[in-house]
Amino acid sequence: MLKAVILIGGPQKGTRFRPLSLDIPKPLFPVAGLPLIQHHIEACVQLEECKEILIIGSYTVNLMQQFVSDMMKEYHVTIRYLQEFTPLGTAGGLYHFRDQIRAGDPAAFFLLNGDVCADFPLKELWKFHEEKGPNAVVTIMGTEATRQQSVHYGCMALSTDAAVTHYVEKPSTYVATLINCGAYVCAPTCFHIMAELFQKKQKNYYTTYVATLINCGAYVCAPTCFHIMAELFQKKQKSYYTGNGVHTPEYMSWEQDVLAPLAGTNKLFAMQVTNWWSQLKTAGSAIYANRHYLQLYRRRAPARLSLGPHLLPDVYIHPTATVDESAVIGPNVSIGAGVQVQAGVRIKESIILNNATIHEHALVMYSVVGQDATVGPWARVEGTPSDPDPDKPFAKMDNTPLFNADGRLNPSITILGAGVSVPAETILLNSIVLPHKQLTRSFKHEIIL
Ligand code: GDD
Ligand code: GTP
Repeated sequence: MLKAVILIGGPQKGTRFRPLSLDIPKPLFPVAGLPLIQHHIEACVQLEECKEILIIGSYTVNLMQQFVSDMMKEYHVTIRYLQEFTPLGTAGGLYHFRDQIRAGDPAAFFLLNGDVCADFPLKELWKFHEEKGPNAVVTIMGTEATRQQSVHYGCMALSTDAAVTHYVEKPSTYVATLINCGAYVCAPTCFHIMAELFQKKQKNYYTTYVATLINCGAYVCAPTCFHIMAELFQKKQKSYYTGNGVHTPEYMSWEQDVLAPLAGTNKLFAMQVTNWWSQLKTAGSAIYANRHYLQLYRRRAPARLSLGPHLLPDVYIHPTATVDESAVIGPNVSIGAGVQVQAGVRIKESIILNNATIHEHALVMYSVVGQDATVGPWARVEGTPSDPDPDKPFAKMDNTPLFNADGRLNPSITILGAGVSVPAETILLNSIVLPHKQLTRSFKHEIIL
Protein backbone atom coordinates (compact mmCIF):
# COMPACT_ATOMS: atom_id res chain seq x y z
CA MET A 1 0.00 0.00 0.00
CA LEU A 2 1.18 3.51 -0.80
CA LYS A 3 0.18 6.95 0.49
CA ALA A 4 0.77 10.50 -0.63
CA VAL A 5 1.51 13.69 1.28
CA ILE A 6 0.98 17.12 -0.28
CA LEU A 7 2.67 20.09 1.41
CA ILE A 8 0.71 23.29 0.96
CA GLY A 9 2.28 25.81 3.35
CA GLY A 10 0.00 28.42 4.84
CA PRO A 11 -1.27 31.96 4.62
CA GLN A 12 2.20 33.41 5.39
CA LYS A 13 3.71 31.76 2.33
CA GLY A 14 3.23 32.57 -1.33
CA THR A 15 3.50 36.34 -1.07
CA ARG A 16 4.51 36.52 -4.73
CA PHE A 17 1.16 35.05 -5.68
CA ARG A 18 -0.79 37.98 -4.29
CA PRO A 19 -3.30 39.39 -4.95
CA LEU A 20 -4.59 36.16 -6.50
CA SER A 21 -4.29 34.42 -3.15
CA LEU A 22 -6.13 37.10 -1.17
CA ASP A 23 -9.53 35.47 -1.74
CA ILE A 24 -8.54 31.89 -2.49
CA PRO A 25 -5.70 30.03 -0.72
CA LYS A 26 -3.02 29.43 -3.35
CA PRO A 27 -3.36 25.61 -3.26
CA LEU A 28 -7.02 26.02 -4.26
CA PHE A 29 -6.47 28.55 -7.05
CA PRO A 30 -8.05 27.12 -10.22
CA VAL A 31 -5.64 26.20 -12.99
CA ALA A 32 -7.26 24.68 -16.11
CA GLY A 33 -10.55 24.69 -14.21
CA LEU A 34 -9.33 22.67 -11.21
CA PRO A 35 -7.90 23.76 -7.86
CA LEU A 36 -4.11 23.60 -8.12
CA ILE A 37 -3.66 20.61 -5.81
CA GLN A 38 -6.52 18.68 -7.44
CA HIS A 39 -4.00 18.01 -10.23
CA HIS A 40 -1.72 16.40 -7.61
CA ILE A 41 -4.63 14.34 -6.30
CA GLU A 42 -5.48 13.18 -9.84
CA ALA A 43 -1.89 12.07 -10.36
CA CYS A 44 -1.97 10.09 -7.08
CA VAL A 45 -5.27 8.32 -7.73
CA GLN A 46 -3.88 6.98 -11.03
CA LEU A 47 -1.98 4.51 -8.85
CA GLU A 48 -4.32 1.90 -7.51
CA GLU A 49 -1.93 1.19 -4.62
CA CYS A 50 -2.26 4.76 -3.35
CA LYS A 51 -4.91 4.45 -0.66
CA GLU A 52 -4.67 7.70 1.28
CA ILE A 53 -3.71 11.30 0.57
CA LEU A 54 -2.70 13.58 3.43
CA ILE A 55 -2.58 17.33 2.85
CA ILE A 56 -0.37 19.15 5.37
CA GLY A 57 -0.42 22.91 5.83
CA SER A 58 -1.14 25.71 8.25
CA TYR A 59 -4.35 27.04 6.69
CA THR A 60 -7.32 26.69 9.01
CA VAL A 61 -9.39 23.56 8.64
CA ASN A 62 -12.37 25.76 7.65
CA LEU A 63 -10.60 26.84 4.48
CA MET A 64 -9.77 23.30 3.39
CA GLN A 65 -12.74 21.24 4.61
CA GLN A 66 -15.08 21.73 1.66
CA PHE A 67 -12.34 20.97 -0.84
CA VAL A 68 -11.35 17.79 0.99
CA SER A 69 -14.90 16.46 1.12
CA ASP A 70 -15.48 17.32 -2.56
CA MET A 71 -12.32 15.43 -3.49
CA MET A 72 -13.26 12.34 -1.45
CA LYS A 73 -16.63 12.22 -3.24
CA GLU A 74 -15.02 12.63 -6.64
CA TYR A 75 -12.12 10.20 -6.32
CA HIS A 76 -13.33 7.65 -3.72
CA VAL A 77 -10.04 7.69 -1.85
CA THR A 78 -9.35 8.75 1.74
CA ILE A 79 -8.11 12.34 1.86
CA ARG A 80 -7.35 14.18 5.09
CA TYR A 81 -6.21 17.67 5.85
CA LEU A 82 -3.75 17.93 8.75
CA GLN A 83 -3.22 21.43 10.13
CA GLU A 84 0.13 22.46 11.58
CA PHE A 85 -0.24 24.64 14.69
CA THR A 86 2.46 26.92 13.23
CA PRO A 87 4.48 26.57 10.00
CA LEU A 88 6.88 23.73 10.81
CA GLY A 89 8.92 23.78 7.60
CA THR A 90 8.94 21.27 4.80
CA ALA A 91 9.91 18.37 7.12
CA GLY A 92 8.53 19.54 10.49
CA GLY A 93 4.92 18.87 9.46
CA LEU A 94 5.82 15.46 8.09
CA TYR A 95 7.53 14.54 11.34
CA HIS A 96 4.73 15.93 13.49
CA PHE A 97 2.14 13.83 11.65
CA ARG A 98 4.40 10.77 11.23
CA ASP A 99 1.99 8.42 13.02
CA GLN A 100 -0.82 9.27 10.60
CA ILE A 101 1.54 8.80 7.66
CA ARG A 102 2.80 5.44 8.93
CA ALA A 103 -0.64 4.16 9.96
CA GLY A 104 -1.57 1.03 8.00
CA ASP A 105 2.11 0.36 7.29
CA PRO A 106 2.53 1.81 3.78
CA ALA A 107 5.50 0.52 1.79
CA ALA A 108 6.31 4.15 0.90
CA PHE A 109 4.66 7.52 0.41
CA PHE A 110 4.85 10.15 -2.29
CA LEU A 111 5.76 13.61 -1.07
CA LEU A 112 4.62 16.45 -3.34
CA ASN A 113 5.14 20.18 -3.02
CA GLY A 114 1.74 21.81 -3.49
CA ASP A 115 3.18 24.69 -5.48
CA VAL A 116 4.55 22.76 -8.43
CA CYS A 117 2.68 21.87 -11.61
CA ALA A 118 3.65 18.86 -13.65
CA ASP A 119 2.81 15.81 -15.61
CA PHE A 120 3.77 13.81 -12.49
CA PRO A 121 5.19 10.41 -13.53
CA LEU A 122 4.37 8.81 -10.17
CA LYS A 123 4.17 5.24 -11.43
CA GLU A 124 7.63 5.47 -12.95
CA LEU A 125 8.98 7.19 -9.86
CA TRP A 126 7.66 4.42 -7.62
CA LYS A 127 9.05 1.70 -9.90
CA PHE A 128 12.42 3.43 -10.03
CA HIS A 129 12.50 3.68 -6.22
CA GLU A 130 11.58 0.01 -5.76
CA GLU A 131 14.34 -1.06 -8.15
CA LYS A 132 16.91 0.70 -5.99
CA GLY A 133 16.31 -1.89 -3.26
CA PRO A 134 15.54 -1.73 0.46
CA ASN A 135 18.38 0.72 1.20
CA ALA A 136 16.75 3.52 -0.78
CA VAL A 137 15.21 6.05 1.62
CA VAL A 138 14.20 8.82 -0.80
CA THR A 139 13.96 9.12 -4.58
CA ILE A 140 13.75 12.64 -5.96
CA MET A 141 12.10 13.56 -9.25
CA GLY A 142 14.76 15.67 -10.97
CA THR A 143 14.85 17.72 -14.13
CA GLU A 144 17.38 19.70 -16.11
CA ALA A 145 17.54 23.49 -15.70
CA THR A 146 19.76 26.15 -17.21
CA ARG A 147 23.02 26.87 -15.41
CA GLN A 148 21.82 30.33 -14.50
CA GLN A 149 18.38 29.32 -13.17
CA SER A 150 19.51 26.16 -11.37
CA VAL A 151 20.63 28.10 -8.28
CA HIS A 152 16.99 28.93 -7.42
CA TYR A 153 16.31 25.24 -6.79
CA GLY A 154 17.74 22.27 -4.95
CA CYS A 155 20.73 21.12 -7.07
CA MET A 156 22.23 17.66 -7.17
CA ALA A 157 25.00 15.57 -8.64
CA LEU A 158 24.48 11.88 -9.41
CA SER A 159 26.65 8.79 -9.66
CA THR A 160 26.23 6.43 -12.60
CA ASP A 161 23.59 4.39 -10.74
CA ALA A 162 21.52 7.53 -10.05
CA ALA A 163 22.53 7.81 -6.38
CA VAL A 164 22.70 11.45 -5.27
CA THR A 165 26.31 12.13 -4.32
CA HIS A 166 25.90 15.79 -3.57
CA TYR A 167 22.82 17.91 -2.73
CA VAL A 168 22.78 21.67 -2.15
CA GLU A 169 19.57 23.63 -1.56
CA LYS A 170 19.52 26.89 -3.56
CA PRO A 171 23.33 27.22 -3.79
CA SER A 172 24.83 30.70 -3.98
CA THR A 173 26.97 29.68 -6.93
CA TYR A 174 26.54 27.07 -9.65
CA VAL A 175 26.62 23.44 -8.52
CA ALA A 176 24.74 21.36 -11.11
CA THR A 177 21.97 21.73 -13.66
CA LEU A 178 19.98 18.77 -12.34
CA ILE A 179 17.34 20.26 -10.03
CA ASN A 180 14.86 18.95 -7.48
CA CYS A 181 11.24 19.11 -8.74
CA GLY A 182 9.69 18.91 -5.27
CA ALA A 183 8.23 15.42 -5.86
CA TYR A 184 9.58 12.35 -4.07
CA VAL A 185 9.05 8.74 -3.08
CA CYS A 186 9.98 8.24 0.59
CA ALA A 187 10.43 5.05 2.56
CA PRO A 188 9.02 5.23 6.11
CA THR A 189 12.62 4.86 7.34
CA CYS A 190 13.06 8.57 6.57
CA PHE A 191 11.39 9.18 9.94
CA HIS A 192 14.39 7.62 11.71
CA ILE A 193 16.61 10.32 10.27
CA MET A 194 14.11 12.97 11.31
CA ALA A 195 13.81 11.49 14.82
CA GLU A 196 17.56 11.80 15.34
CA LEU A 197 17.53 15.35 14.11
CA PHE A 198 14.52 16.19 16.27
CA GLN A 199 16.22 14.89 19.39
CA LYS A 200 19.32 16.90 18.61
CA LYS A 201 17.33 20.07 18.06
CA GLN A 202 15.32 19.59 21.25
CA LYS A 203 18.50 19.05 23.22
CA ASN A 204 20.04 22.25 21.90
CA TYR A 205 16.83 24.13 22.58
CA TYR A 206 16.48 23.17 26.22
CA THR A 207 20.02 23.95 27.27
CA THR A 208 21.55 22.53 30.43
CA TYR A 209 23.06 24.26 33.51
CA VAL A 210 24.58 27.73 33.02
CA ALA A 211 24.97 29.43 36.45
CA THR A 212 23.46 29.48 39.95
CA LEU A 213 22.79 33.24 40.09
CA ILE A 214 19.09 33.70 39.27
CA ASN A 215 17.00 36.64 38.10
CA CYS A 216 14.42 37.83 40.72
CA GLY A 217 12.18 39.62 38.19
CA ALA A 218 12.78 43.19 39.44
CA TYR A 219 14.73 45.70 37.30
CA VAL A 220 15.72 49.34 36.71
CA CYS A 221 15.57 50.14 32.98
CA ALA A 222 17.02 53.06 31.02
CA PRO A 223 14.62 54.26 28.30
CA THR A 224 17.33 53.23 25.81
CA CYS A 225 16.17 49.64 26.32
CA PHE A 226 13.44 50.49 23.83
CA HIS A 227 16.05 50.93 21.11
CA ILE A 228 17.16 47.38 21.61
CA MET A 229 13.57 46.19 21.57
CA ALA A 230 12.81 48.24 18.45
CA GLU A 231 15.71 46.66 16.61
CA LEU A 232 14.68 43.19 17.61
CA PHE A 233 11.06 43.89 16.69
CA GLN A 234 12.10 45.04 13.21
CA LYS A 235 14.30 42.01 12.77
CA LYS A 236 11.54 39.65 13.82
CA GLN A 237 8.98 41.33 11.59
CA LYS A 238 11.36 41.09 8.67
CA SER A 239 12.18 37.46 9.21
CA TYR A 240 8.49 36.70 9.77
CA TYR A 241 7.53 38.23 6.43
CA THR A 242 10.41 36.64 4.56
CA GLY A 243 9.79 33.29 6.19
CA ASN A 244 13.33 33.05 7.55
CA GLY A 245 12.36 33.64 11.16
CA VAL A 246 13.50 32.03 14.35
CA HIS A 247 11.66 28.77 14.38
CA THR A 248 10.16 26.53 17.02
CA PRO A 249 12.31 23.47 17.81
CA GLU A 250 9.83 21.41 15.78
CA TYR A 251 10.82 23.30 12.60
CA MET A 252 12.69 21.16 10.10
CA SER A 253 13.70 21.62 6.52
CA TRP A 254 13.27 18.57 4.33
CA GLU A 255 15.86 19.83 1.89
CA GLN A 256 18.54 21.02 4.32
CA ASP A 257 18.02 18.66 7.25
CA VAL A 258 17.11 15.45 5.43
CA LEU A 259 18.13 15.49 1.75
CA ALA A 260 21.54 17.17 2.12
CA PRO A 261 22.82 14.77 4.84
CA LEU A 262 21.45 11.76 2.91
CA ALA A 263 23.49 12.65 -0.18
CA GLY A 264 26.55 10.45 -0.58
CA THR A 265 25.16 7.66 1.67
CA ASN A 266 23.73 5.58 -1.19
CA LYS A 267 20.25 6.00 0.29
CA LEU A 268 19.16 8.98 -1.80
CA PHE A 269 18.41 8.61 -5.51
CA ALA A 270 17.11 10.81 -8.30
CA MET A 271 15.09 9.95 -11.37
CA GLN A 272 15.64 12.47 -14.14
CA VAL A 273 12.54 13.28 -16.17
CA THR A 274 11.84 15.35 -19.26
CA ASN A 275 8.08 15.73 -18.65
CA TRP A 276 6.65 19.21 -18.37
CA TRP A 277 7.25 20.69 -14.90
CA SER A 278 7.01 24.19 -13.44
CA GLN A 279 6.74 25.96 -10.12
CA LEU A 280 3.73 28.15 -9.39
CA LYS A 281 5.18 31.07 -7.49
CA THR A 282 4.09 34.23 -9.31
CA ALA A 283 0.73 35.17 -10.81
CA GLY A 284 2.34 35.08 -14.27
CA SER A 285 3.21 31.42 -13.81
CA ALA A 286 -0.52 30.62 -13.41
CA ILE A 287 -1.15 31.43 -17.09
CA TYR A 288 1.81 29.27 -18.10
CA ALA A 289 0.65 26.38 -15.89
CA ASN A 290 -2.90 26.79 -17.23
CA ARG A 291 -1.66 26.26 -20.80
CA HIS A 292 0.22 23.11 -19.91
CA TYR A 293 -2.52 21.51 -17.84
CA LEU A 294 -5.01 22.23 -20.66
CA GLN A 295 -2.61 20.54 -23.08
CA LEU A 296 -2.36 17.54 -20.77
CA TYR A 297 -6.16 17.16 -20.89
CA ARG A 298 -5.83 16.26 -24.58
CA ARG A 299 -4.25 12.99 -23.50
CA ARG A 300 -5.66 12.51 -20.03
CA ALA A 301 -9.17 14.01 -19.97
CA PRO A 302 -10.25 15.20 -23.44
CA ALA A 303 -13.89 15.50 -22.28
CA ARG A 304 -12.88 18.49 -20.15
CA LEU A 305 -11.89 20.54 -23.19
CA SER A 306 -14.59 22.58 -24.94
CA LEU A 307 -14.73 22.49 -28.71
CA GLY A 308 -16.59 24.76 -31.13
CA PRO A 309 -16.16 26.95 -34.20
CA HIS A 310 -15.33 29.99 -32.05
CA LEU A 311 -13.06 28.17 -29.62
CA LEU A 312 -9.33 28.02 -30.40
CA PRO A 313 -7.82 25.05 -28.54
CA ASP A 314 -7.20 24.58 -25.71
CA VAL A 315 -10.19 25.95 -23.84
CA TYR A 316 -11.90 24.89 -20.63
CA ILE A 317 -15.41 26.22 -20.00
CA HIS A 318 -17.28 25.28 -16.83
CA PRO A 319 -20.71 23.78 -17.69
CA THR A 320 -22.51 26.57 -15.79
CA ALA A 321 -20.77 29.40 -17.71
CA THR A 322 -22.58 31.08 -20.61
CA VAL A 323 -20.50 32.05 -23.60
CA ASP A 324 -22.07 33.86 -26.55
CA GLU A 325 -21.51 32.09 -29.86
CA SER A 326 -19.99 35.19 -31.42
CA ALA A 327 -17.25 35.39 -28.75
CA VAL A 328 -13.83 34.06 -29.83
CA ILE A 329 -12.10 32.22 -26.99
CA GLY A 330 -8.60 30.71 -26.87
CA PRO A 331 -5.99 29.53 -27.05
CA ASN A 332 -5.21 28.74 -23.43
CA VAL A 333 -8.31 30.01 -21.65
CA SER A 334 -10.10 28.65 -18.58
CA ILE A 335 -13.56 29.95 -17.75
CA GLY A 336 -15.01 29.26 -14.30
CA ALA A 337 -18.49 28.52 -12.98
CA GLY A 338 -21.26 31.05 -13.60
CA VAL A 339 -19.12 33.28 -15.84
CA GLN A 340 -20.94 35.27 -18.54
CA VAL A 341 -19.17 36.07 -21.78
CA GLN A 342 -21.23 38.32 -24.02
CA ALA A 343 -21.36 38.89 -27.79
CA GLY A 344 -18.21 39.82 -29.70
CA VAL A 345 -15.83 39.25 -26.78
CA ARG A 346 -12.25 38.09 -27.46
CA ILE A 347 -10.34 36.21 -24.72
CA LYS A 348 -6.94 34.57 -25.07
CA GLU A 349 -4.25 33.27 -22.66
CA SER A 350 -6.34 34.04 -19.57
CA ILE A 351 -8.12 32.63 -16.56
CA ILE A 352 -11.62 33.93 -15.81
CA LEU A 353 -12.72 33.07 -12.29
CA ASN A 354 -16.24 32.21 -11.10
CA ASN A 355 -19.17 34.53 -11.74
CA ALA A 356 -17.20 37.18 -13.61
CA THR A 357 -18.93 39.00 -16.48
CA ILE A 358 -17.18 40.04 -19.67
CA HIS A 359 -19.45 42.49 -21.49
CA GLU A 360 -19.90 42.72 -25.25
CA HIS A 361 -16.87 43.33 -27.47
CA ALA A 362 -14.41 43.50 -24.55
CA LEU A 363 -10.94 41.98 -25.01
CA VAL A 364 -9.05 40.05 -22.30
CA MET A 365 -5.48 38.84 -22.97
CA TYR A 366 -2.74 37.49 -20.66
CA SER A 367 -4.86 38.28 -17.63
CA VAL A 368 -6.61 36.78 -14.65
CA VAL A 369 -10.11 38.14 -14.03
CA GLY A 370 -11.15 37.60 -10.39
CA GLN A 371 -14.40 36.21 -9.03
CA ASP A 372 -17.45 38.44 -9.55
CA ALA A 373 -15.38 40.99 -11.51
CA THR A 374 -16.90 42.77 -14.51
CA VAL A 375 -15.22 44.02 -17.65
CA GLY A 376 -17.31 46.70 -19.39
CA PRO A 377 -18.29 46.78 -23.09
CA TRP A 378 -15.43 47.52 -25.52
CA ALA A 379 -12.88 47.58 -22.67
CA ARG A 380 -9.39 46.12 -23.23
CA VAL A 381 -7.67 44.24 -20.38
CA GLU A 382 -4.20 43.16 -21.39
CA GLY A 383 -1.02 41.86 -19.73
CA THR A 384 2.43 40.76 -20.86
CA PRO A 385 3.21 37.05 -21.07
CA SER A 386 6.03 35.83 -18.84
CA ASP A 387 6.96 32.49 -20.33
CA PRO A 388 10.30 30.71 -20.08
CA ASP A 389 12.79 31.77 -22.76
CA PRO A 390 11.90 29.53 -25.74
CA ASP A 391 15.41 29.86 -27.16
CA LYS A 392 17.08 28.35 -24.11
CA PRO A 393 16.80 24.59 -23.73
CA PHE A 394 15.52 23.59 -20.27
CA ALA A 395 14.61 27.18 -19.34
CA LYS A 396 12.05 27.49 -16.54
CA MET A 397 9.68 30.32 -15.62
CA ASP A 398 11.56 33.24 -14.14
CA ASN A 399 9.86 34.12 -10.87
CA THR A 400 10.36 37.83 -11.49
CA PRO A 401 9.59 40.06 -8.50
CA LEU A 402 6.69 42.51 -8.77
CA PHE A 403 8.98 45.56 -8.92
CA ASN A 404 12.29 46.08 -10.71
CA ALA A 405 15.36 47.79 -9.20
CA ASP A 406 13.99 51.27 -9.99
CA GLY A 407 10.79 50.54 -8.10
CA ARG A 408 8.75 50.19 -11.29
CA LEU A 409 6.27 47.42 -11.88
CA ASN A 410 7.83 44.64 -13.97
CA PRO A 411 5.65 43.93 -17.03
CA SER A 412 3.53 40.90 -16.23
CA ILE A 413 0.02 39.63 -16.59
CA THR A 414 -2.87 41.93 -15.67
CA ILE A 415 -4.82 40.85 -12.61
CA LEU A 416 -8.30 41.97 -11.61
CA GLY A 417 -9.02 41.12 -7.97
CA ALA A 418 -12.41 39.79 -6.88
CA GLY A 419 -15.35 42.12 -7.49
CA VAL A 420 -13.36 44.67 -9.51
CA SER A 421 -15.23 46.54 -12.22
CA VAL A 422 -13.61 47.91 -15.35
CA PRO A 423 -15.72 50.59 -17.08
CA ALA A 424 -16.72 50.53 -20.75
CA GLU A 425 -14.22 51.62 -23.40
CA THR A 426 -11.17 51.80 -21.12
CA ILE A 427 -7.74 50.17 -21.37
CA LEU A 428 -6.05 48.34 -18.53
CA LEU A 429 -2.48 47.35 -19.41
CA ASN A 430 0.04 45.41 -17.26
CA SER A 431 -1.75 46.39 -14.07
CA ILE A 432 -2.83 44.80 -10.83
CA VAL A 433 -6.16 45.85 -9.36
CA LEU A 434 -6.81 44.89 -5.74
CA PRO A 435 -10.19 43.37 -4.86
CA HIS A 436 -13.46 45.33 -5.00
CA LYS A 437 -12.06 48.39 -6.74
CA GLN A 438 -14.46 50.21 -9.08
CA LEU A 439 -12.25 51.75 -11.77
CA THR A 440 -13.34 54.94 -13.49
CA ARG A 441 -10.66 55.36 -16.16
CA SER A 442 -7.79 53.63 -18.04
CA PHE A 443 -4.53 52.57 -16.31
CA LYS A 444 -1.13 51.38 -17.55
CA HIS A 445 1.66 49.74 -15.51
CA GLU A 446 0.05 50.47 -12.15
CA ILE A 447 -1.01 48.76 -8.97
CA ILE A 448 -4.44 50.09 -8.13
CA LEU A 449 -5.11 49.83 -4.41
N1 GDD B 1 3.03 22.13 5.57
C1 GDD B 1 3.97 23.00 5.28
N2 GDD B 1 4.58 23.69 6.31
N3 GDD B 1 4.33 23.18 4.02
C2 GDD B 1 5.31 24.05 3.76
C3 GDD B 1 5.96 24.80 4.76
C4 GDD B 1 5.56 24.60 6.11
O1 GDD B 1 6.05 25.20 7.06
N4 GDD B 1 6.90 25.58 4.16
C5 GDD B 1 6.80 25.34 2.85
N5 GDD B 1 5.84 24.44 2.59
C6 GDD B 1 5.42 23.89 1.30
C7 GDD B 1 5.14 24.96 0.26
O2 GDD B 1 3.77 25.22 0.20
C8 GDD B 1 5.60 24.29 -0.99
O3 GDD B 1 4.59 23.51 -1.56
C9 GDD B 1 6.73 23.39 -0.56
O4 GDD B 1 6.52 23.16 0.83
C10 GDD B 1 8.13 23.95 -0.77
O5 GDD B 1 8.09 25.31 -0.49
P1 GDD B 1 9.30 26.29 -0.23
O6 GDD B 1 9.81 26.07 1.14
O7 GDD B 1 8.80 27.64 -0.62
O8 GDD B 1 10.45 25.81 -1.18
P2 GDD B 1 10.71 26.19 -2.70
O9 GDD B 1 9.46 25.94 -3.48
O10 GDD B 1 11.36 27.49 -2.83
O11 GDD B 1 11.78 25.06 -3.07
C11 GDD B 1 11.46 23.68 -2.98
O12 GDD B 1 10.85 23.25 -4.18
C12 GDD B 1 11.67 23.36 -5.35
C13 GDD B 1 10.86 22.84 -6.52
O13 GDD B 1 9.73 23.61 -6.71
C14 GDD B 1 12.73 22.91 -2.73
O14 GDD B 1 12.39 21.58 -2.45
C15 GDD B 1 13.68 22.96 -3.91
O15 GDD B 1 14.78 22.10 -3.71
C16 GDD B 1 12.95 22.55 -5.18
O16 GDD B 1 13.82 22.72 -6.29
P1 GTP C 1 7.55 34.27 -1.43
O1 GTP C 1 7.10 34.97 -0.19
O2 GTP C 1 7.04 34.94 -2.67
O3 GTP C 1 9.01 33.98 -1.44
O4 GTP C 1 6.79 32.94 -1.43
P2 GTP C 1 7.42 31.53 -1.07
O5 GTP C 1 8.08 30.99 -2.28
O6 GTP C 1 8.15 31.56 0.22
O7 GTP C 1 6.14 30.76 -0.79
P3 GTP C 1 5.58 29.68 -1.72
O8 GTP C 1 5.11 30.32 -2.99
O9 GTP C 1 6.53 28.53 -1.80
O10 GTP C 1 4.38 29.25 -0.86
C1 GTP C 1 3.62 28.38 -1.46
C2 GTP C 1 2.49 27.91 -0.60
O11 GTP C 1 1.87 28.95 0.21
C3 GTP C 1 1.46 27.51 -1.58
O12 GTP C 1 1.55 26.14 -1.89
C4 GTP C 1 0.21 27.89 -0.89
O13 GTP C 1 -0.15 26.80 -0.14
C5 GTP C 1 0.47 28.97 0.09
N1 GTP C 1 -0.01 30.33 -0.29
C6 GTP C 1 0.64 31.13 -1.12
N2 GTP C 1 0.18 32.38 -1.11
C7 GTP C 1 -0.79 32.45 -0.23
C8 GTP C 1 -1.60 33.54 0.22
O14 GTP C 1 -1.39 34.73 -0.06
N3 GTP C 1 -2.65 33.25 0.96
C9 GTP C 1 -2.87 32.00 1.36
N4 GTP C 1 -3.93 31.80 2.12
N5 GTP C 1 -2.02 30.99 1.05
C10 GTP C 1 -0.99 31.16 0.24
